[in-house]
Amino acid sequence: MSVVLLVAGAACRQREEAPKPPPPAPPVVAAKPVAPPVVPASADSALVARGRYLAESVLGCVGCHTERDYGRFGGPVSGPVLAGACFGEEWEMPGTLCAPNITSDPEHGVGRWTDEQLLRTLREGYGRDGRTLFPMMPYMEWRTTLSDGDARAVVAWLRTVPAVARATPPSKLLPEVTAEIQDLAAPLPGPVAEPAADPIARGRYLATVAQCAFCHASADEEPKPFAGGRAAPTPFGAEPIPSLLPGGPVMKGLDEDAFVARFTAFKDLGAAPSRKGQVNKLAMPWQAFASMKEEDLRAMYRFLKTQGTPTRRASGQ
Ligand code: HEC
Ligand code: HEC
Repeated sequence: MSVVLLVAGAACRQREEAPKPPPPAPPVVAAKPVAPPVVPASADSALVARGRYLAESVLGCVGCHTERDYGRFGGPVSGPVLAGACFGEEWEMPGTLCAPNITSDPEHGVGRWTDEQLLRTLREGYGRDGRTLFPMMPYMEWRTTLSDGDARAVVAWLRTVPAVARATPPSKLLPEVTAEIQDLAAPLPGPVAEPAADPIARGRYLATVAQCAFCHASADEEPKPFAGGRAAPTPFGAEPIPSLLPGGPVMKGLDEDAFVARFTAFKDLGAAPSRKGQVNKLAMPWQAFASMKEEDLRAMYRFLKTQGTPTRRASGQ
């Protein structure tokens, strides 16, 4: 849902097909039409395990591309993994956005896509047939940040996801929004390296690709990462997004163990019934982050603690 905060703006009526406006230069760099054969699943089990962890816990692929029961606290997953899910006006979308079936099904999923096509979708923004994806699919956040190794790991895991033969309805965006996003898909400028091994650098990396920086940014025109102040629309009303800066209400007084515990507390999601009219914790991807590795949660905490503290040069004023 996150990118919606940035792009969607006001809730609007959806329309049928865009009445073919003069196309603003079709994406010529589009992924080529798909040709069999199916790319075999990677035999590297460590890579597949890494990809699964990223897709389920850190990058939120499963949380968006799978049906969830948003009537329940935290929105537990309720459909077959990665078989597709749609978001409409109740999420203040500019139309209906469908995160498609990306299981290994050859017809309805990505079973016939090449690795290259999948990699391009993740960080360049090209979908099926080369169309530009609405940036709710977080390719803009991942373009120059998600490392080549991690992107490949996700693709390796995708190959192993059981096929579900179910078509996802196509997204239906307002025509003006379709026109507006055409330039967003773009080729990668170059290779994306792994982050350095120290906890702060890894924490920065994780807080970026997990979109903490993005969702928890300020509401300013030039959003300040982690400063808080926006609100995330949900079917039960907007959820205010707090600051994650060290001096803010969340992080102040929260030690590292308590920070980790905030996340792991959501491991047993789905037990509580809907609490309509109340904050249901649907926007923050707790269901995904609850299973982040402890060392990763700790790395993010340590990194967050370095944010917003005056640098030596700036501390004079
Ligand atoms: C915040 C929600 C969100 C997250 C997280 C997300 N996606 Fe998506 N994804 C979408 C939406 C929505 C679309 C369709 C956009 C459109 O129709 O313009 C999409 C489109 C795609 C497509 C193109 C499918 C097609 O048929 O064209 C692929 C492939 C894909 N996502 C893979 C992934 C993978 C892999 C991950 C995790 C690394 C991921 N997505 C994470 C929401 C998300
Ligand atoms: C899609 C938007 C979104 C993303 C991505 C997101 N958050 Fe949040 N976050 C929220 C919202 C909304 C709340 C307030 C509601 C709640 O507590 O669930 C929140 C609350 C929190 C809280 C406060 C919990 C409390 O007990 O008060 C912490 C800590 C937090 N987020 C950390 C993170 C970290 C770390 C990441 C990245 C790993 C992250 N968030 C990513 C939307 C987001």
